[in-house]
Amino acid sequence: MKVLNIQSSASLERSLTRKLSTAFLETLLEAHPETIVEEVDLIQDPPPLMQPEWIAGAFNKGELSEAQRKALEPSDRYIAQLEWADVILIGAPMYNYGMPAALKAWFDQIARINKTFSFDLSRGDEPIAPILKGKQLVLMTSSGEFDFQEGGSREARNHLTPHVRACAHYLGVDLEVDFHHVGIEYQEFKDERHEASKKRAFEALPGIVKHLYEQSGVQV
Ligand SMILES: Cc1cc2nc3c(=O)[nH]c(=O)nc-3n(C[C@H](O)[C@H](O)[C@H](O)COP(=O)(O)O)c2cc1C
Repeated sequence: MKVLNIQSSASLERSLTRKLSTAFLETLLEAHPETIVEEVDLIQDPPPLMQPEWIAGAFNKGELSEAQRKALEPSDRYIAQLEWADVILIGAPMYNYGMPAALKAWFDQIARINKTFSFDLSRGDEPIAPILKGKQLVLMTSSGEFDFQEGGSREARNHLTPHVRACAHYLGVDLEVDFHHVGIEYQEFKDERHEASKKRAFEALPGIVKHLYEQSGVQV
């Protein structure tokens, strides 16, 4: 199994999403040492923001100019990594109620016409169709506040998981069966609710590893 490990917390050593992701990979590698992991650190090596040449190049059906080719290089590289991966692991802290800007910039690089989605108005009101398929997404989140889940008191302020879910089709992920989310809450309260939330999150990891392998059809 090939895992693309994408991290976006601007904290390094103290980050809970990085710790959770590392623990997940350790659990996975312990059970399946043949697993290959490729790291993408969006903080230490940030993706560029989209530029006019990027958009012009992405929609250019002819030959790309040198500037367009250069602007699309990071996108080409990120998409090749996505194509390679079976599992996409994303560590995503909640910043200002949404995903970190670096992670949004990565999604902007990988959502690309005729590479990760096609667009055809003959499909009616759903012209976008994903090109990649069969990928599993494991999303690790952490937030200072709490109750962001469906029906929770802060549901309307949660622009993190709903946004990742909305973009998951570009990754080739079927949300019904291939989306796994583990979230830590209450980080800013630093109380027993935070400790309980952390404990639950770390305890959920072996179950996800098992599920991934069952989904992939590999003998466990
Ligand atoms: C710049 C910044 C913005 C944040 N914004 C929010 C927020 O909008 N809502 C929230 O619940 N927590 C917020 N937090 C708290 C983080 O989500 C929390 O510290 C989380 O553990 C960060 O993930 P990490 O530990 O992997 O770095 C913010 C933290 C930082 C540093």
